[in-house]
Amino acid sequence: MEIVGTVIELREKIQVWKKQGQKIGFVPTMGYLHEGHLSLVRESKKRSNLTVVSIFVNPMQFGPAEDYKVYPRDLERDRALLEREGVDLVFYPPVEVMYPEGYKTYVEVEDLQDKLCGKSRPGHFRGVCTVVLKLFNLVQPDEAYFGWKDAQQVIILQKMVEDLNLPVKIVALPLVRDHDGLALSSRNTYLSPEERRAALVLKKSLDLAEKLIIEGEREARKIRQKMIELISAEPLARIDYVEIVDLKTLEPLETIGDQALIALAVFIGRTRLIDNLRIISGGIEK
Ligand code: PAF
Repeated sequence: MEIVGTVIELREKIQVWKKQGQKIGFVPTMGYLHEGHLSLVRESKKRSNLTVVSIFVNPMQFGPAEDYKVYPRDLERDRALLEREGVDLVFYPPVEVMYPEGYKTYVEVEDLQDKLCGKSRPGHFRGVCTVVLKLFNLVQPDEAYFGWKDAQQVIILQKMVEDLNLPVKIVALPLVRDHDGLALSSRNTYLSPEERRAALVLKKSLDLAEKLIIEGEREARKIRQKMIELISAEPLARIDYVEIVDLKTLEPLETIGDQALIALAVFIGRTRLIDNLRIISGGIEK
């Protein structure tokens, strides 16, 4: 497995592979990898001839008061994990390679970017779309793999690919949970043991929503209210949002029909965690 950090090195490799007609799978990450990331890598290995992983903590998607500086980083650990998975190439660029001085070009997916997480993280999805489009242009993957953990990110990137006619297929895979149900996230490392326990309230609220839906409840307002009550009973939790929205437009739903996204963001202490479940063709996807 090779690690490259410059555009020239990456392009050289990709050009050779493209000439050979190889199917390239791509997993963009910010590093500090966990089983969620590795599940994406494994799917890419299954479906593609060659797998490229990028590790880049993208400053553009962090707000000024957010955790860019302290975001966990451990290249050696990541390298060992990716090597073990049989990844072919890792792109690990420094910030100056992605955003040289005088950088001026940005990608925005209007409307969708301002909803849910976009409300409390203005500019976040502009940063995500900009970096992902740059990475797509560099890696030229046939398929790119993302986790449903970041459901809004998946929906926005699918729209970007559609609107800009990008020749890449977005493959979204189920989120991966720890043994106790907490959705895996590199940010879980910020949690103290007490916060870690409190963080289970996110999953519990989704379990409650699922139970209500299975029992026949379809009124979004009622389900949302019950979820909010449950989370509010946890002293360490502060709700950012709990929303039940259309899976494509992210517009709030009054009634849950064939499809829906139930998404939430909750601060546990100072750590903001997200989780969700999706209803597709009337069935619950977790
Ligand atoms: O999901 C992430 O880790 C990041 O948002 C991504 C897609 C790698 C872009 O920086």
